[in-house]
Amino acid sequence: MSLFTKAAVLYEKGAKLILDEFELPDLQENQVHIRILAAALNRRDLWIQKGLYAKIQYPAILGSDGCGIVVNVANKEHNHLLGQRVIIHPSLFWGDNDKAQGTSFQVLGMPAYGTLAKDIVCNYDRVYLAPKHLTNEQAAALPLAGLTGWRALIRQGKAQNKHKILITGIGGGVALITAQLAIALGCEVWITSGDEIKIQSALSMGASGGILYTDPNWGKEVHKTMGGFDCIIDGTAGSEFNQLLEAVKAGGTIVNYGATLGTVEKLNIHRIFWKQITIIGSTMGNDEDFSNMLDFVALKHILPAVDSVFTLQEIDNAFDKMERNKQFGKIIITMEDM
Ligand SMILES: NC(=O)c1ccc[n+]([C@@H]2O[C@H](COP(=O)([O-])OP(=O)(O)OC[C@H]3O[C@@H](n4cnc5c(N)ncnc54)[C@H](OP(=O)(O)O)[C@@H]3O)[C@@H](O)[C@H]2O)c1
Repeated sequence: MSLFTKAAVLYEKGAKLILDEFELPDLQENQVHIRILAAALNRRDLWIQKGLYAKIQYPAILGSDGCGIVVNVANKEHNHLLGQRVIIHPSLFWGDNDKAQGTSFQVLGMPAYGTLAKDIVCNYDRVYLAPKHLTNEQAAALPLAGLTGWRALIRQGKAQNKHKILITGIGGGVALITAQLAIALGCEVWITSGDEIKIQSALSMGASGGILYTDPNWGKEVHKTMGGFDCIIDGTAGSEFNQLLEAVKAGGTIVNYGATLGTVEKLNIHRIFWKQITIIGSTMGNDEDFSNMLDFVALKHILPAVDSVFTLQEIDNAFDKMERNKQFGKIIITMEDM
């Protein structure tokens, strides 16, 4: 029997998302049906909406983060999940190489239908119990950003207690949860932002220092002040990247997981070899990263920051807020009133 749901659907490049009735795919073996309570936006959703993403398939239901209740399972071996509050692991088909995802890798929310919907069907092995200490909104804020931050910080950055860590663009969803993870790990955490108020908010969450990236010489200056960073976690790249080569310690590491400012032109290659800097990329994470991240969040009672909550009907306003970089924490879409 066909089941219909409501979803925010993207039908073409640059179009607004349209709230539409949508036929849920039939449950395949090993799949579960989740009634979504809350979803969260990521920059990726905006890139796709604007057509600035590879291999976009329409119609697209975006959304890589979701918290919901399991309402049906295809396989009775999964009955224990019925009625459970769960979150969805957004890395699909990672493959068996710990070091990088394979060629079949996908992110939940295009081409696979995502969480900006009242219901979703997904594979059983992507479903994890939501951490008990989190609200639905906080749980929805966690998966993609928490996973990306965990892998960047722990697996690629090898961060440890007392390390000096710099996290760029604290207004970013990944940046903020990474700062929370690093603070909970006992690192000395510094952050950059274009907004003094966001710096103050980060300091009140336990960051040790904040830098305005609008200062043209901040990289050299911060190195002079505090001796440089063991590791920098960056999602910005672009014209800012050479500042990181100044700010990092000799022998330190820069982990890059994104390029909000685009490619790096005029890379200062001399600083890289002279300071013996390791630069390593990072993308989302595998199942081990996701489990370890969830265990750590539960152990340390980390509360992912929620900036604001919109209904699915208000999805345009939510996208607009992300585009203007006004958020501090995740932008959440609630489905509870639908
Ligand atoms: N590889 C992966 O697995 C992965 C996963 C998630 C995201 N990403 C990528 O990572 C990037 C961030 O994504 P997100 O969703 O976390 O971020 P986001 O919520 O879109 O936030 C972007 C932030 O970038 C910061 N920014 C803007 N100009 C900057 C500059 N000159 N220097 C430093 N920061 C600057 C701003 O911080 P302030 O407001 O503090 O100024 C802004 O809030 C995106 O490019 C995204 O596509 C990659």
